[in-house]
Amino acid sequence: MRYKILCSILSGLLAVSLLGQTASYVEKHRPRFHFSQPANWMNDPNGMVYDKGIYHLFYQYYPDSTVWGPMHWGHASSADLIHWKNLPVALYPDSLGYIFSGSAVVDKKNSSGFQQGSIQPLVAVFTYHNIAGEKKGRNDFQYQGLAYSIDHGKTWQKYAGNPIIANPGIKDFRDPKLIWHEGSGKWIITLAAGNKVQFYASADLKKWQLCGTFGEKEGSHDGVWECPDLFPLKTADGKETKWVLLVSVGTGAPNGGSGTQYFTGEFDGQKFVSDAAKTVKWIDYGTDNYAGITWSNSPDNRRIFLGWMSNWQYAQQVPTKNWRSAMTIPRELGLLKSPAGYHLIANPVKETLGLRLEKEAVNFLSRKEHPISLNELLLNFSLENPESEDFGIELFNSINEKLRIGYNRKKNSYYIDRTHAGNTGFSKEFAALHEAPRLSNHKTIQLHLFIDKSSVELFADGGKTVMTDLFFPTDDFNAVRAYSKSGTAPLINGSLYELKSIWK
Ligand code: FRU
Repeated sequence: MRYKILCSILSGLLAVSLLGQTASYVEKHRPRFHFSQPANWMNDPNGMVYDKGIYHLFYQYYPDSTVWGPMHWGHASSADLIHWKNLPVALYPDSLGYIFSGSAVVDKKNSSGFQQGSIQPLVAVFTYHNIAGEKKGRNDFQYQGLAYSIDHGKTWQKYAGNPIIANPGIKDFRDPKLIWHEGSGKWIITLAAGNKVQFYASADLKKWQLCGTFGEKEGSHDGVWECPDLFPLKTADGKETKWVLLVSVGTGAPNGGSGTQYFTGEFDGQKFVSDAAKTVKWIDYGTDNYAGITWSNSPDNRRIFLGWMSNWQYAQQVPTKNWRSAMTIPRELGLLKSPAGYHLIANPVKETLGLRLEKEAVNFLSRKEHPISLNELLLNFSLENPESEDFGIELFNSINEKLRIGYNRKKNSYYIDRTHAGNTGFSKEFAALHEAPRLSNHKTIQLHLFIDKSSVELFADGGKTVMTDLFFPTDDFNAVRAYSKSGTAPLINGSLYELKSIWK
């Protein structure tokens, strides 16, 4: 009896600590410098908004299980995009439905009228998913709701007039991304609506009018459209501003499963006109960056992106305990213009520099392997010698599991090969080699890598090619070496930084 009481007290304490700030973040495979929720299930990042020195991150959260379920908005905040404080759940499901993905803004001019006193309100829009309606086979079970906070995001009230956008009979009708559009002087919501996005406009954030649609005949339609984002972005030379539209697609990404495509073009507050692009453009060619959107109101006009580091193909089966999923590293987006058109680049935010501990020069000739644990790697390889056909680095452990990150000259592509990287049996799609086109024609290949227990993020050639992949070794990978299928790997120079954990 006493034993039972002790056990129940201990498990109570464990549950409390997992939900609170004291979650240990030391479980096997648990990322150490990426954001992940204290426990249970997480998917898309939601409601990302910067307010008074704080980056808010909300996320699709099911606090009662490690698989998807009735969605809440979990909440965390950060002053530097790297160190996160876990906060109480912001939005709970209610009689209108589960709380699906959405976004948030600072209502600086108090268009909503929610302001009391001097604090500018935060306004969030999200999708209500009505499970009863879905079960009845109706097609109008998703509609949009609004919530606001008048205490800098600490607590949230749902708007009494919800829903703010009713469903017109479109089954997949979700994930509103809210922006202020300077040109038309209106608030705009971009919404995934079946096989297209719809744009809605409003002056007061409460009454919304459909004003345009985009995409029925453009981009990838191999899966359901979800989680759009729309924002202006200056080209790297500062000469032009283009509008960028992100649209996540549930299946059919270049390496399988879920992925995020993008369009560049013009937006006048009603119509999005895409620059003619023959091929579909993807923000990341790895399999583990989905449903990402950008922060609203970031200082210095920064366009900062965060994605869910998983894939619906296997997200609910990955071999982690207590928790499932993490977010990518926050990434700064930029735009390059070339004769081939406009190209989105992504690089880790500069705040990641603060994670660096020891620096070590990498030289695989004088030292065959380097120990690794949590690391950032910067490697430059030469393409001068045509004999170097296929080369790269591999992370490995003492039981011969390995993960390869390399370049194939014939295909002119980068790849991540996780075929032999440990546990893959939880999904038949997981063991695979993923490829991404190289877009640079420099004679030097630049690889910038972040390795965090069970994930690798590759930013190649200054962010022109990006890949994010998960892997689950039986024992952690603890060393890195070079490989080459012919001759030696043509490493020019390299450095390796040990990184610190953000969870103390
Ligand atoms: C994308 C998504 C969204 C939806 C949410 C539900 O991963 O399917 O479209 O709002 O997840 O959790």
